[in-house]
Amino acid sequence: TPRVFSGIQPSGDLHLGNYLGALKRFADAQDKGVQSIYCMVDLHAITMPQKPEDLKRSTRELCAGFIASGIDPQKSILINQSQVPEHAQLAWVFNCVARMGWMGRMTQWKDKSGKNAEAASLGLFAYPALMAADILIYHATHVPVGEDQKQHLELTRDIAAKFNHDYGVDFFPITEPVIEGAATRVMSLRDGSKKMSKSDPSDASRINLTDNADIIAKKFRKAKTDPDALPSEVEGLNNRPEARNLVNIYAGLNDQSVEEVLREVGGQQFGAFKPLLADLAVAKLAPISTEMARLMDDPAEIDRILAHGAGQAREITAPILKKTYEIVGMVG
Ligand code: TYM
Repeated sequence: TPRVFSGIQPSGDLHLGNYLGALKRFADAQDKGVQSIYCMVDLHAITMPQKPEDLKRSTRELCAGFIASGIDPQKSILINQSQVPEHAQLAWVFNCVARMGWMGRMTQWKDKSGKNAEAASLGLFAYPALMAADILIYHATHVPVGEDQKQHLELTRDIAAKFNHDYGVDFFPITEPVIEGAATRVMSLRDGSKKMSKSDPSDASRINLTDNADIIAKKFRKAKTDPDALPSEVEGLNNRPEARNLVNIYAGLNDQSVEEVLREVGGQQFGAFKPLLADLAVAKLAPISTEMARLMDDPAEIDRILAHGAGQAREITAPILKKTYEIVGMVG
């Protein structure tokens, strides 16, 4: 049976890339009626330094972001990673299955450890084994993510296959990445060659889900573009990364294909298109930020939702961990 799992790090504010590449896709999957588990990955967040108070606030705010984006805790299981201990327990087993060489080839590891890999945390290096555990502790079959997580999901398949092979079992499924829609890789508004990211020092490079209408309009107005009008055919976006990015964002927000968008706006100058884009973004995002703020007024309710989710999750994860330990040869 199909089962969906995905996660987001509670570090910093949610941005438009998280929304179009992930959150919006999650709501779509849930509404197709497939059993879905969505996770705030706080154990992943501490692979980089986090202030304890900020981590707490970000975790609750992320939970509010999931719900405000359409994840219904009655239909999907919403959890915080550290509240379901089987994630970390299976990750240890996977640390012993995965190879150092595999981890060393991950582009996220190379980017985040930077020039001084000796000083990076061991957790940052092992990050993808915990991610594989997140998914496989549910025997999840489908994982909706943005393009930047593709390499980690390939590694998840490698870990599942190696475990099955080493122990001569057919236990962990080979998971399918689901990377769909017009905006699987939203780029920085300041530089069409960099992805939109919470770690970019320039706040003008991204739209945060908590930005108000004025800020959203201003950020799109100042977004980098070229001087030409929009093309009417997709080929006309070749070698125009900034133009392509804004059209992808429009298509993603409006559930349209890039072709459809260009049929409508082809020929327009950016001076005309940017206000349209800003209006669309405000119309789609304002209800989400309003709902997030409302939910954040009652953090105790958020904590109740997460405690309930953890209980539901452990009905799935406890038997899978038990069986894994049996396969590995743990007495107990
Ligand atoms: P994270 O927290 O960096 O991002 C959360 C989700 O948002 C997507 N995303 C984007 N999509 C399009 N354009 C962008 N600019 C953009 N930036 C981020 C990401 O692809 C992701 O889907 N390792 C994961 C969290 C994780 C996870 C998992 C995901 C932990 N365990 C298990 C899936 C399954 C991460 O750091 O995502």
